Amino acid sequence: MIKIESVTFKHQNGTVALQNVSLEIRTGEATAIVGENGAGKTTLVKHLNGLIKPTEGKVTVFDLDTKQTTVAQLARKVGVVFQNPDHQLFSETVSDEIAFGLRNFGFPESVIKKRLEWALEFFGLTEYRDSSPMMLSGGEKKRLCLAIVLAWDPEVIVLDEPTVGQDLVQKEKLREVIKMLLLRGKTVILVSHDMEFVWSLQPRVIVMAKGRVVADGAAAEVFSRPEVVGEANLMKPQLLELSVHLKNPPQKPFADIYEARQWLVSSVSR
Ligand SMILES: Nc1ncnc2c1ncn2[C@@H]1O[C@H](COP(=O)(O)OP(=O)(O)OP(=O)(O)O)[C@@H](O)[C@H]1O
Ligand SMILES: [Mg+2]
Repeated sequence: MIKIESVTFKHQNGTVALQNVSLEIRTGEATAIVGENGAGKTTLVKHLNGLIKPTEGKVTVFDLDTKQTTVAQLARKVGVVFQNPDHQLFSETVSDEIAFGLRNFGFPESVIKKRLEWALEFFGLTEYRDSSPMMLSGGEKKRLCLAIVLAWDPEVIVLDEPTVGQDLVQKEKLREVIKMLLLRGKTVILVSHDMEFVWSLQPRVIVMAKGRVVADGAAAEVFSRPEVVGEANLMKPQLLELSVHLKNPPQKPFADIYEARQWLVSSVSR
């Protein structure tokens, strides 16, 4: 459904941010893209809604070649929540910000009203509905960006560093949102430095280093490869570390803290 074929991207100043990247992402898949600062993660996901076009190679989204499709057309299908909220916010009020995208995509006013109320309520932004987005805290701004994109219900949701600045309650809520989207058959692509959050979703993990894909596979498999963890300077998820260091390790590493608790409680009382 998303096809990235031999993509190389060179910035205007000559920096090569992606080198010969090829990937396919299937519908309904949960994918995490991880890697050090400057590895090319943001550059890669900006290709998915056509904001960036490949210097060499080809990106196809729902059979549309991004070089021949407008960003507006692609964005309806691929919603990107950017790493830096200040690049995404420009309206006078929080409500306008959410409604703008919906109006742009031509939703009828009755639908706009419903989706706006849902988004404000769901992301805990109702009390700020008439405030300027610039008055929000960093974490609230990120939540607003998520609300804007989810309000138009795209097929693919790309989240670039969504946990930055979020407290534990909001992170847990975000995890639930992602799980709900996946249950609804949506495709979720998460870019993150937060290995614990990534691990908790048990996604396919794509590891990038210096503009290249250096590993691609199930979370447990990728994080268990020392050469990959070393090359990309990754922090191994703590639950994986715990799982493999137990005297009687579980058959499968603990996916979340609840699984770990259950296993530990039952093994202590054995
Ligand atoms: N507008 C730009 N002009 C020139 N070089 C850029 C530009 N944006 C990014 N780069 C360079 O491209 C490379 C990849 O950057 P990118 O933002 O994709 O990395 P990233 O993996 O998302 O990093 P981070 O984890 O810090 O968000 C880096 O070397 C960066 O310095
Ligand atoms: Mg980035």
